[in-house]
Amino acid sequence: MKTVVSGIRPTGKLHLGNYFGAVRSFLEMQENYNAYFFIADIHSLTTHPTPEDLHGNVKQVLAEYLAMGLDPEKCTLFIQSDVPQITELYTYMNMNAYLGELERSASFKEKVKTQRNNVNAGLLTYPVLMAVDILMHKADFVPVGKDQEQHLEMTRNYAKRFNNLYGVECFPEPQAYSQTGKLVKVPGLTDNGKMSKSGGENDAIFFDDPEKVTRKKIMKAVTDTGPEVPNQEKPSAIENLFDIMKLVSEPSAVEHFNDLYNNCTIRYGDFKKQIAEDVTSFIEPIRNRIEEIKSDNTYLAEVAKAGADKAKANAEATMKEVREIIGFRRFY
Ligand code: ADP
Ligand code: TRP
Repeated sequence: MKTVVSGIRPTGKLHLGNYFGAVRSFLEMQENYNAYFFIADIHSLTTHPTPEDLHGNVKQVLAEYLAMGLDPEKCTLFIQSDVPQITELYTYMNMNAYLGELERSASFKEKVKTQRNNVNAGLLTYPVLMAVDILMHKADFVPVGKDQEQHLEMTRNYAKRFNNLYGVECFPEPQAYSQTGKLVKVPGLTDNGKMSKSGGENDAIFFDDPEKVTRKKIMKAVTDTGPEVPNQEKPSAIENLFDIMKLVSEPSAVEHFNDLYNNCTIRYGDFKKQIAEDVTSFIEPIRNRIEEIKSDNTYLAEVAKAGADKAKANAEATMKEVREIIGFRRFY
């Protein structure tokens, strides 16, 4: 059976981008793969969360994973920092990671711009830690959104480099995975690229937002003055709303508003109302489950413990092999 690994950083509530870029594939893959899904809490330390925020966000994402349908009976659902083997392999793998390639990573370059007063070494070696998450379980596939493509490329390089350095076939080269065949990029509501937690209050549609907030955000989404010529090309803000609609609405609704756009009779108020309606009916059942699960600490503890045990056992098997390959051989 092929193996799949993926994770999400606990930096807040999950949004539609996380779901359609990653979690939707997790749900499919847990049925047919040896699947490891985790909460990347070590990764999130690059932004220096308070201990309370860190713990709260880990709990939030764990509850959201479960509410979205991740099933601990079908996949290994764990918290990254529960697996000490990760930081061990990260240390070793850093010796094979070069400054030039790390500095060229798009995500690092962006952080240097947006996080100017906190360009820490953890940000620089972020792709190494991510590669380790994946290689630790010898993953074949990694379900992620489009923004993670370059990290996957780097992961393959680290796998190849380790294998070549020691003349072994220890790590397979993992491929990014999307069930549609194309990696997904869900746009935000503010016409600023991909939907993201860091895109401002009104950019992302969060699963755990109250229904009223969700509707309001959608109704406030950026539009324009409307089409003036039949079949004219859509500006990005409008295309983005159509893209979101395609994810949550019936194809007939998309077609209906597309026709209205093309004959210049679309009313953006109605269009957004329809999107708001379909988004909230998609989100609401999940949101209700989040609250229920979050209040069940016993269940969360059971899930986290079972996931940690399974992930640690598999990680330790890999590390036994890796230590031997590297030459860490005990004298006792
Ligand atoms: P954010 O960008 O909100 O901080 P993360 O970087 O934690 O979210 O992303 C976690 C997962 O969700 C990754 O697999 C990422 O590719 C995916 N993802 C995040 N935002 C989007 C988006 N707008 N479209 C598609 N996938 C996304
Ligand atoms: N870098 C990913 C993100 O920001 C999160 C992540 C960490 C991840 N380790 C991973 C994703 C391993 C897939 C596999 O979204």
